[in-house]
Amino acid sequence: MSMTEARRRELSDYLTPAGPPREIDRVYSEDQLQRLLGAVRDHGPWKLIIAQHFASADELLATMSGPLPEGTELSLDWFLTPTFRGFLANYSAALYPELHDCFYNERFLELVRSYWGAKYAKPQMMLFNVNGPAGNTDPGHLDTPSFRGVRYENSPTWLCSVMGKSGLFRDYLIKMAQVITWFSHDPDSGFTFWPDGPLQPPRRLQAPIYNRGVVVQNEMMYHRGEANGPVEEQRPAGLAFETLFSGDPDDEDKWILKTGEEVIARHHTRDLRFLVHWSAEVFEDGDELKKNMEGTDNLTIERAIGMLIDDARAQGFDIPTPTDPLHEPAFIRAINAAYDMGGPASYPEEAPVTPLYIDAA
Ligand SMILES: [Fe+2]
Repeated sequence: MSMTEARRRELSDYLTPAGPPREIDRVYSEDQLQRLLGAVRDHGPWKLIIAQHFASADELLATMSGPLPEGTELSLDWFLTPTFRGFLANYSAALYPELHDCFYNERFLELVRSYWGAKYAKPQMMLFNVNGPAGNTDPGHLDTPSFRGVRYENSPTWLCSVMGKSGLFRDYLIKMAQVITWFSHDPDSGFTFWPDGPLQPPRRLQAPIYNRGVVVQNEMMYHRGEANGPVEEQRPAGLAFETLFSGDPDDEDKWILKTGEEVIARHHTRDLRFLVHWSAEVFEDGDELKKNMEGTDNLTIERAIGMLIDDARAQGFDIPTPTDPLHEPAFIRAINAAYDMGGPASYPEEAPVTPLYIDAA
């Protein structure tokens, strides 16, 4: 069966953030920016986003939305865009001491507490995305949420993602907020987001976005980066899953994309789109902090999967009983279909989605 229109609207209404995004500017000092770029140069090379987060096209699909051509075998190649990612902090630990002040950031903590009206917050994770000219085939996505006991660190991305979209686990959702900052001189490349739910009209952070950012809850708000750079350079020849991004050893103002030993693109720093994502966990009050600390009200992966199967079947979806629920494509697809409301219904005219690279592989 497929989803009814009423159910689709219900899921869309659920996918709204704790509050509308708040714009901020002068997010990092020039010195902090130089240290952030320095860390990218010193600790690379870095893999494509898609290559580090997904083992199969179905896992990717669970975090995305929208119809795909019938009867075609999904290929990860379709989604290949030259955007790279690296982690700068994880599990509340800054990975590089030179970025201590960027991560344990008093201003950011105040911003996210205020955004939620919450008493406590702690930095959780920090990463960057970096690219030269790049398409963006993403029709809009949600960041991976975590739940007490089922966290992005210990569970498959697709599972956390479906749990977030389902609305079934809202009592277990870890409250989070992000400070997302861009350094891009591109005059057209902004940030599209759907603060009132994916079926409502989007809003847009207007380009150019250089050292400006937003305070958001991106696990519960559809959003997408926009393509940047000349269209003919948005997918360099030779791009592959194993392509890596690093500083150009011959020029400290430049960066290279390498597939094996071959340099397939070279960009000056001023042509980069550099995004810094900082996220925090937020605790409304002492009770919520205690519940998280003591683990007294945690889910398990088994229980979460059981709840999804029971609920989807109760709604009339035909869900095969999986033998390996964490990795079985047919099962993942069936569960996703029960909770994926299809993603955003409309886009800004000036910021269309880059078509999938179906014939490019
Ligand atoms: Fe995101």
